[in-house]
Amino acid sequence: MSEKGMNLTLKIWRQKDSKSKGQLETYPVTDISEHMSFLEMLDVLNEQLIVKGIDPVAFDHDCREGICGMCSLYINGEAHGPDRGVTTCQLHMRMFKDGDTIYIEPFRATAFPVIKDLVVDRSAFDRIQQAGGFVSVNTSGNTIDANAIPVNKHDADEAFNSAACIGCGACVATCKNASAMLFVSAKVSQYALLPQGKVEAKDRVLNMVKQMDLEGFGNCTNTGACEVECPKGISLDNIARMNREYLKASI
Ligand code: SF4
Ligand code: FES
Repeated sequence: MSEKGMNLTLKIWRQKDSKSKGQLETYPVTDISEHMSFLEMLDVLNEQLIVKGIDPVAFDHDCREGICGMCSLYINGEAHGPDRGVTTCQLHMRMFKDGDTIYIEPFRATAFPVIKDLVVDRSAFDRIQQAGGFVSVNTSGNTIDANAIPVNKHDADEAFNSAACIGCGACVATCKNASAMLFVSAKVSQYALLPQGKVEAKDRVLNMVKQMDLEGFGNCTNTGACEVECPKGISLDNIARMNREYLKASI
């Protein structure tokens, strides 16, 4: 005997391209298992739309394992939806119940223009990382064994935690100022804490912050909303560290 699935009403942002004005459209979706992921539910919707001759909903995804940071959806007013510590692809339909209405919108920020429907252009993040430059590593054949460079446990752990940022952009989408400080500070911190990253540390923080401002992200006003919605638990401590690094580099 098959388990009866949920019937839901979806209010989804549809936008033809970056130039068009978008609007919310209403779609019913039927027979959704609570074991499905949110993206699998959207796959079912798209199959049902194609049968009806309607253009399927465009949304970003790649790994579907919480690694790539592509699945940028704003669900019922929260980046990555109502669960904590998960990306949209890790969100399960058991978080919803039969008869629910679910609002699905793209991440919204001036620096993340909508490309189509729920897909936004987050290449501003790539440009910030590129502005950070490289780490000098001697690859000439007499490379120093990594274990020969002592790193204290606290710094190694902190650098590892900062490096967990997947560049999803939920921090920007959640912030009322669309600030990218949590993301940029995680990327600055993962190098600033390690001896290998200290060589270019000054240029890195100055260039990344400069690029962040050029991209049109807002200012940080310490509301802390970004930390709450970050699927990887990136801490606000990173922002404080980046501010210290920036000050050190500026004087
Ligand atoms: S800091 Fe968190 S929310 Fe922001 S991009 Fe990184 S993983 Fe995503
Ligand atoms: S699809 Fe890769 S993190 Fe969600």
